[in-house]
Amino acid sequence: METSPKFRGFQVVPLSGSLGAEIIGADLSAEITPELARDIAAAFRHFHILCFRDQALDLDTYRKVARLFGPFSGNPIHVALPGYPEFVRVVKEPQQDGPTFGGNWHTDLSWFEAPPKATMLYAEEVPPYGGDTMFANLHLAWERLSPTLRGMVAGLTGVHSGYGAYGVNAALKSVKVVDEGWEVSRAEVEHPLVPRHPETGREFLFVNPNVVRIKGMTEAESRPLLDMLMQAATRMDTTCRLAWRAGSLAVWDNRCLLHHAIGDYPNFRRVMVRTTIAGDRLPAAKINAAA
Ligand SMILES: [Fe+2]
Repeated sequence: METSPKFRGFQVVPLSGSLGAEIIGADLSAEITPELARDIAAAFRHFHILCFRDQALDLDTYRKVARLFGPFSGNPIHVALPGYPEFVRVVKEPQQDGPTFGGNWHTDLSWFEAPPKATMLYAEEVPPYGGDTMFANLHLAWERLSPTLRGMVAGLTGVHSGYGAYGVNAALKSVKVVDEGWEVSRAEVEHPLVPRHPETGREFLFVNPNVVRIKGMTEAESRPLLDMLMQAATRMDTTCRLAWRAGSLAVWDNRCLLHHAIGDYPNFRRVMVRTTIAGDRLPAAKINAAA
């Protein structure tokens, strides 16, 4: 990223040189002025993932903050909180074993016709150490590919399905899924492998485990290319790492980032409340791959 911009209503502490920032000094439970909302939106476009520290949010206040970023995307696979259909509580108990919710590099619900614009997580209870989340910048992943590879990949279409992710979630203890999710998640949806960001116009490499194949290729033919692009997308120098504290609220761009929850906190409890924000269909990039 170029030099960090300055904002009036809060301080910004970048999380790495590639993406992400902590936001210090903004109280989201107080009135959010149009100026503050504009600055938050500008910081979000610049850093792609923001973490607001030291927030005291009940679900009604969290809902108000979420609406700053847009309407709820819908979530057809997880059981929501009573009276709050947009929120899912993810609870990992101290002695709970098995896989971690979100414990791989992924994008949330990319198999929607219009993938969610953003995901938000609020930390209600966190372990004394561990339980961080990593993020990877898919703009940088695209820009750091060689011109020859960009030329090969530019016009391709990814076929996304949520079926595998639903299966993984159905086996978890920390979150509940709805039975109909098996059928809903089976749908296949096509997105450009290199879309333009709907708000900024900047290209990004839209790869994640929901991409089951490249359109026009078999799964076996697609796999090596998709695996190689995932490797490129998760190079250490495209990432940042967020260490949670109770009261941290993170919001990240779910299209142009991958994220990965690290399950390294056996014997500790961790409670997070998640919501997702509606996005737009992703337009294909107009690419001069040699540029
Ligand atoms: Fe996720």
